[in-house]
Amino acid sequence: MSKIAVIGSISTDFVVTADKRPKVGETITGNGFKTTFGGKGANQAVASARLGGDVYMAGTVGTDLFGKELLKNLTENNIHTDYVEPVTQVPSGSAHITVVDGDNAIVYIPGANNVIGNDRMAKLRELIQSSDIVVVQNELPQEVVEQIIESCFEQQVKVIYNPAPARQVDQGLLAKATYFTPNESEFKLLFPDMTISEGLAKFPNQLILTMGSKGVYYHDGTSEKQVSSYKVDPVDTTGAGDTFNGAFAVALTAGLDMESSIRFGNLAASLSIQKFGAQGGMPTLAEMKESEEYEKTWNIE
Ligand code: RIB
Ligand code: NA
Repeated sequence: MSKIAVIGSISTDFVVTADKRPKVGETITGNGFKTTFGGKGANQAVASARLGGDVYMAGTVGTDLFGKELLKNLTENNIHTDYVEPVTQVPSGSAHITVVDGDNAIVYIPGANNVIGNDRMAKLRELIQSSDIVVVQNELPQEVVEQIIESCFEQQVKVIYNPAPARQVDQGLLAKATYFTPNESEFKLLFPDMTISEGLAKFPNQLILTMGSKGVYYHDGTSEKQVSSYKVDPVDTTGAGDTFNGAFAVALTAGLDMESSIRFGNLAASLSIQKFGAQGGMPTLAEMKESEEYEKTWNIE
């Protein structure tokens, strides 16, 4: 079975639901509060593992109670945690999320996710070398993300780079990623001088632009392609992009072509947003197969 390494953040999400967002200086009464499991890295790892991927998570948690729960959640989702390091000096990472009408706004506090020990890169290189595909996001320090992508490039291991949350990234680095998967606002920050069509044409079969309900766009070397999303009523869109990336990784390692892999990701994401919490609605492969949209051609064992 193909080995998927997800290197990234592992966090607790503190989620508040409300009918509207407070203005500056205003206090409003919300509807509910929950803690759920999150972190873009962990979310992508869980998405892949639920769909049958053999997933190795690499990241850092605190030795606080949250860190223990975060580790346990990964294990319960059948994810290998040998490369998850508990550190004592800082608290576990967290995200503070407000959900209004299914849409989220997030304040991310990296905490332990930003702690990278001296021998860490050597261990990560070892993990990368033994993996079929690596998935990485922007909730780690930028220099770490850079080293991971460089290492994948040197070792000729495929890497999906999900440049979320948005920050400026060196164009040369992007070019070294096998795939990079920004959403629309991340695209605009990465390529302020380019239209979407120009960007897609510049990185054929490499730039995978996720546009939420508008679907996913890429260029296949000949022409621009759009893969439609599945229309659903969202309960909570938190983690939709993470579900897409995790599912996309599973589909690629299962040998599906680009378009089918994107459709597989879209279907997983559409199921995930129908339940509360980033990981709450992430489907298993069995749940994917039960959905009307699942196509026999996907046959992933
Ligand atoms: O992509 C969603 C995730 O990003 C949330 O689970 C939260 O942890 C945030 O940082
Ligand atoms: Na969800």
